[in-house]
Amino acid sequence: MLRKFIPVSIIVIFLLNFTTNDKLDKQPYRVIHPNTKLSKVEEDRFLFVIQVDTLQIKSFKVFNPWDTTMVVDLSSPSARKSNNEKVAAILPPNLIIGKISVSAEPFHQPLINKEDSFPFEKQAGAKGILLKDTSLASIKILREQNALLASVKVLGWLPVEVNNFGKRKNYCQNDIISIPLSLEPGKNAIHYELETKEGKLISDSLNVYYQLEIESKKAPDEYSKSIFHIAENDTRCFSCHENENERKSSVISPSTCQSCHGSMYKENFVHGPVDAGQCETCHNQQTSSGFKPKFEVEKESEVCFECHDDIKEGIAKKKFVHAPVVSGKCTICHSPHASKHEFQLRNSTNQICLACHDDKNDGNHPVIFHPFQNRKDQRNPKRELNCVSCHNPHFSEFKSILSSADGYFALCQSCHNK
Ligand code: HEC
Ligand code: HEC
Ligand code: HEC
Ligand code: HEC
Ligand code: HEC
Ligand code: HEC
Ligand code: HEC
Ligand code: HEC
Repeated sequence: MLRKFIPVSIIVIFLLNFTTNDKLDKQPYRVIHPNTKLSKVEEDRFLFVIQVDTLQIKSFKVFNPWDTTMVVDLSSPSARKSNNEKVAAILPPNLIIGKISVSAEPFHQPLINKEDSFPFEKQAGAKGILLKDTSLASIKILREQNALLASVKVLGWLPVEVNNFGKRKNYCQNDIISIPLSLEPGKNAIHYELETKEGKLISDSLNVYYQLEIESKKAPDEYSKSIFHIAENDTRCFSCHENENERKSSVISPSTCQSCHGSMYKENFVHGPVDAGQCETCHNQQTSSGFKPKFEVEKESEVCFECHDDIKEGIAKKKFVHAPVVSGKCTICHSPHASKHEFQLRNSTNQICLACHDDKNDGNHPVIFHPFQNRKDQRNPKRELNCVSCHNPHFSEFKSILSSADGYFALCQSCHNK
């Protein structure tokens, strides 16, 4: 009798304790993460976590920053027609479009750039702008200029809506809502709206600055890092998310970390140890201040070399080593976790190189009018022509870290072999 009683009372005390700590005190909601209105992050995705009073709030909506870039072939009449349609079809129907920039590369002429932007404020609550009206007009202008290729970049917001608190399957359970957001380099304004049961609309916003190390634009001083894994949050969340064996309502996926950081596993290119759920290879076990990265070592690359010894060997042996590689900052170019770009690069290869070598953006490198993008690499049609078609990003035996045989001509001939 007594043995049965003790565990039950512990649970009751725990629950009482848990609910009193967790009370919203008549506030309709509370943002748990980020805990500051101006926060700084180093990865292009993060979790927005909010607690809502389910008795007061009917629905919640967050406007997730959204972007896509498409290269549009305009070289023949049929390609022009089908690609215009593709641009429109690729975009989700409820997207609120903020900015469309179109740039084109006509034959032997300077680049054309056109940009239309739509301030979010005017669009809030609207259904969105039909892309047809805008990018088609821009592409039409480019056609008249005989452009062969255009790249269309669309920035906007994709609203995520959460209803039916208590019953919902996604976005956590009960009164916690967590939305994975993907971010653009620089400032991201995150708008959110809550509708009360009486139909009142509460809206607010916060700014998250995604600091790409290669970008010269640093986050303004008032932005600070917001640490999530503090004892208070972990107690609240890990009652359900930690320790699979003790959890009874077993809806959460197998890995503890994955149950919340699942969005990083869904990227196109996921780093080996992340895919294997081995966060601890690079993050310390939890302390009172959370899972800090283990980079007390002098050079962060030491952690990478534990598994990538071929890169370590190359740095030691090759004649020419690229400056940022020498300094051991591998994550300046690679995300340690995941990315939508191959090799977990933090941006497209050319964007990464041009962030530090913007003088090579003039279309005249290495020889006048030479393209460096929007073409196939003749040696491997599966790969796009880019800076790395001619340069090794890490090291090489050849001057200017060129990727292939010594001197100009062997390199040129590897693609222009006739
Ligand atoms: C209950 C959900 C949850 C679980 C489980 C969880 N995390 Fe997190 N974690 C978050 C949230 C929310 C953030 C802050 C938002 C972000 O950075 O994406 C975060 C941030 C982090 C950070 C950045 C530093 C910080 O504290 O803000 C690290 C590192 C981290 N998590 C590692 C881990 C590791 C390793 C595990 C598994 C042992 C884990 N997390 C499990 C929710 C969780
Ligand atoms: C009452 C138990 C419970 C508590 C407390 C809880 N969670 Fe969850 N959470 C769940 C369950 C169950 C799921 C799985 C939902 C599904 O995928 O069906 C989940 C899923 C998630 C997910 C992944 C789905 C999504 O929302 O994108 C995240 C992130 C998350 N929770 C974060 C948190 C954070 C952060 C806290 C603390 C502030 C927390 N949870 C507290 C039960 C809980
Ligand atoms: C190969 C090493 C490595 C592995 C494996 C790794 N991390 Fe990290 N993580 C880092 C580094 C380095 C940072 C510091 C920020 C940066 O450079 O992106 C970091 C930062 C983070 C952050 C904070 C990002 C921000 O915006 O500041 C989160 C969240 C995180 N890690 C979660 C995880 C989770 C969850 C796992 C396992 C699924 C994991 N990490 C596995 C190296 C790693
Ligand atoms: C625990 C071992 C481990 C550590 C530590 C590690 N990696 Fe990896 N890495 C892997 C594995 C495994 C793969 C997948 C290899 C494959 O798919 O061929 C991989 C793949 C990669 C790739 C993509 C390679 C490809 O061919 O697609 C890059 C880039 C990379 N790692 C960079 C890093 C960086 C930068 C660090 C340090 C922050 C690091 N790795 C730390 C194990 C590790
Ligand atoms: C200047 C940017 C930059 C830095 C710094 C950098 N890399 Fe890379 N890395 C790249 C690019 C670009 C590629 C893709 C090459 C390609 O497209 O073939 C790559 C590819 C890789 C690959 C997969 C292909 C291979 O060569 O095995 C690994 C592994 C890798 N990097 C690890 C590292 C490690 C470890 C460091 C730190 C010592 C590092 N990188 C530093 C830009 C960089
Ligand atoms: C974080 C900044 C940074 C990034 C990103 C970067 N570089 Fe560099 N790069 C440097 C620095 C610094 C030097 C050495 C100083 C110089 O020669 O300008 C250098 C030198 C070079 C050189 C001349 C090397 C020599 O031996 O003469 C080439 C070629 C080069 N980079 C190509 C690239 C390519 C290709 C990429 C993209 C994969 C890239 N860089 C990305 C900073 C960067
Ligand atoms: C078609 C091959 C090719 C492509 C593509 C290419 N390069 Fe080069 N690059 C060269 C050659 C060849 C040299 C050596 C020029 C010399 O020695 O005069 C060179 C030299 C360089 C140098 C060092 C000398 C200097 O002029 O400062 C840098 C830095 C550089 N390239 C960066 C880049 C970047 C960044 C990109 C992508 C935007 C790029 N390269 C794309 C072939 C190429
Ligand atoms: C990685 C493959 C590659 C390498 C290496 C390369 N090229 Fe090219 N080159 C291209 C591609 C792709 C085009 C565009 C062909 C097209 O659009 O039909 C091009 C176009 C050209 C053009 C025509 C430019 C124009 O549009 O008027 C010249 C001239 C040229 N290359 C010279 C060189 C020289 C000189 C070198 C050596 C320094 C070199 N290329 C190395 C891939 C390469």
